[in-house]
Amino acid sequence: MKIMVVGGGGREHAIIKKIKENPNVTELYALPGNGGIAADAECVSIGAKDIPAIVAFAQEKKIDFAVVAPDDPLVLGAVDALNAVGIPCFGPEAKAAIIEGSKVFSKNLMKKYGIPTAAYEVFEDVASALAYLETAPIPTVIKADGLALGKGVIIAQTREEAVAAVRSMMEDKQFGESGSRVVIEEFLTGPEVSVLAFTDGNVVRPMVSSMDHKRALDHDEGLNTGGMGTIAPNPYYTPEIADVCMKTIFLPTIDAMNKEGRTFRGCLYFGLMLTPNGPKVIEYNCRFGDPETQVVLPLMESDLLTVMMATANGTLADAEVRFSDGAACCVIVASKGYPVKYESGYPMELPADTADRFIYVAGAKKDGDRLLSAGGRVLGVTAVAETLDVAVKKAYEHVEKVHFENGYHRSDIGARALAALQK
Ligand code: AMP
Ligand code: GLY
Repeated sequence: MKIMVVGGGGREHAIIKKIKENPNVTELYALPGNGGIAADAECVSIGAKDIPAIVAFAQEKKIDFAVVAPDDPLVLGAVDALNAVGIPCFGPEAKAAIIEGSKVFSKNLMKKYGIPTAAYEVFEDVASALAYLETAPIPTVIKADGLALGKGVIIAQTREEAVAAVRSMMEDKQFGESGSRVVIEEFLTGPEVSVLAFTDGNVVRPMVSSMDHKRALDHDEGLNTGGMGTIAPNPYYTPEIADVCMKTIFLPTIDAMNKEGRTFRGCLYFGLMLTPNGPKVIEYNCRFGDPETQVVLPLMESDLLTVMMATANGTLADAEVRFSDGAACCVIVASKGYPVKYESGYPMELPADTADRFIYVAGAKKDGDRLLSAGGRVLGVTAVAETLDVAVKKAYEHVEKVHFENGYHRSDIGARALAALQK
């Protein structure tokens, strides 16, 4: 089988390594991939947003199955375009990807169908947003409507910060057109959980839960990033809470999308907060999380490609979706200065994968035989073990074996989860 994966980060590397485990895969392409992914797939220099080129490549190579991993091409309709020329695909169509592409859409969906989420108001002009902020409860959360590389969310601790956030999104267009509408919502508290779920619109099969660490520095300090590390499973996500989420969030969401004529097929990511009033949705993503995927897929015991194909053709009910009882930890190694300003082009030497160690490359390019860093988040170093404490310890041991002088990483990935397990 000829398979192609659209995207080129650590998440795509994790998907590619897992797909490769299927013995029927004869050719595997990454568009565009990166210098590290090149060890596992043939990288083709076609950008993830260049939909006409993606479709032309798929036709030329007679691709049997495509996986579209990042949010941008999904929201732009890459799956629609591939399906239109007869290429089966994993990922939602654009009309379903809007669940991530527009926060206004997802908030209105949750309100209409009674899915628990933070209370909110939508604003289309600066004056009414500012008027609302005069009496809004503080802290408050301001979100740009559209995609903003995970940076379109501001938690304002004071009224002044809230006003500044609204002005920068709506007047200064800090996130471009994404900020022409904003959502202002209630500030929620509680542990966060990421749940990625396969769904074909008929059934939903959640994967093992995980916890992201979004801030750049230890103790959740510093700026928000794409994610500096993950652990799975998330100890706050008990079987009882999982039941509540299935009944009040997962199934109602699938149902709501069907009723709206926007059936979601692919990986639906539920960003949840376990508040004192029960689990609530913080965000939906229309795709696998990054770096959640780097701990979730190493724990998957079923065949990923088989499950993806079943998801795409509506037979997920018959597929086996099984995860091990073990645990995983992924420590992200980023370029010094990320997420603000950083340099690329530093040579790296990486230890080889083993049965319980996986090195996922998020940003790298090849220079002859050398691998050079390229980008902010550069590596995801994952360890799998029977228990979380051992997985965390091993992940950090593996990080020590990486040679990359311009790298930095958090030293407390998993600490909060381990403390929760002690209680
Ligand atoms: P998002 O980009 O939607 O994932 O938001 C980034 C982060 O902002 C989330 O992971 C939460 O930590 C935080 N956040 C978003 N919405 C809220 C909210 N309503 N209350 C508290 N924190 C929030
Ligand atoms: N790790 C958060 C995300 O993928 O959006």
